[in-house]
Amino acid sequence: PLSDADKAQYIARIKTLLQEKNAVLVAHYYTDADIQALAEATGGCVSDSLEMARFGAQHDADTLIVAGVKFMGETAKILTPEKTVLMPTLDATCSLDLGCPADKFSAFCDAHPDRTVVVYANTSAAVKARADYVVTSSMALELVEHLDSQGKKILWGPDKHLGSYIAKQTGADMIMWQGACVVHDEFKAKALVQLKQQYPDAAVLVHPESPQNVVELADAVGSTSQLIKASQTLPNDTFIVATDKGIFYKMQQLAPGKTFIEAPTGGNGATCRSCAHCPWMAMNGLAAIENALTTGGVAHEIHVDPDLGKQAMIPLNRMLDFAK
Ligand code: 13P
Ligand code: SF4
Repeated sequence: PLSDADKAQYIARIKTLLQEKNAVLVAHYYTDADIQALAEATGGCVSDSLEMARFGAQHDADTLIVAGVKFMGETAKILTPEKTVLMPTLDATCSLDLGCPADKFSAFCDAHPDRTVVVYANTSAAVKARADYVVTSSMALELVEHLDSQGKKILWGPDKHLGSYIAKQTGADMIMWQGACVVHDEFKAKALVQLKQQYPDAAVLVHPESPQNVVELADAVGSTSQLIKASQTLPNDTFIVATDKGIFYKMQQLAPGKTFIEAPTGGNGATCRSCAHCPWMAMNGLAAIENALTTGGVAHEIHVDPDLGKQAMIPLNRMLDFAK
């Protein structure tokens, strides 16, 4: 970890670079608190993946620096190809993206030509290019409800937990790619029931990438922004939170008197792969942001094949239009 003096130096330098390059910092709630605070202090945004996409698309900066994971940078580039889109590291991927290669997903779609293809934003540009609609967790349920009401049958990918949650809520006819998030997949229902017994007055907030039996224990289910909202609006003083622990920074900031507890991962806490923090989100740091703004280029700049980008822009714009 950086010393306070080093942090202050990086922050000062990044502020100058943002101005010099007419750049804006767009950060996700799972990144480090320093990054979230810096995004807010410099007129950037910190938000869920839908609002990150909207903010980047509407902002008039020449350069977007996206602190998050690769699909977020790609989405920004697809929506505004004329902008330079930089990331602290291009190695920050996502297990949902990794687990859904475009050629295999495309073959899955080809095998079900009668279905409307709805893909989660946590996918590559090539997978989005194959979709009729892109969704994020903040509006996926409403979109599928809408398509179902029009009698459409859905092909869903890649998150099986989010897909199952939506299918259960809407009754829509959905077939699914079997992907999962390595972070949320670790939350355990049995241990959560025990924790709830210890904190009977706590409300349980769950991101829908979590397993179905964890979602069933929730008082509120939603995107990161929606969970933060719930932590402000629900009357409880204590919350058990089943999502990446990066979100605690904003929850504590907005509701300083409340208590936030991590939902249990890996059974009795003995084993887990990610322990409620996304390893790829954790790759974002102040030094990497400074480096991206200083050097740009192959190590930091997002490129999307223009033809693929044009194709992927269509379902992404449908997402933004639907979510208005
Ligand atoms: P949100 O759209 O809720 O911010 O989710 C993005 C994500 O990657 C969750 O793991
Ligand atoms: Fe992907 Fe999960 Fe990380 Fe979100 S938390 S970026 S879904 S691996």
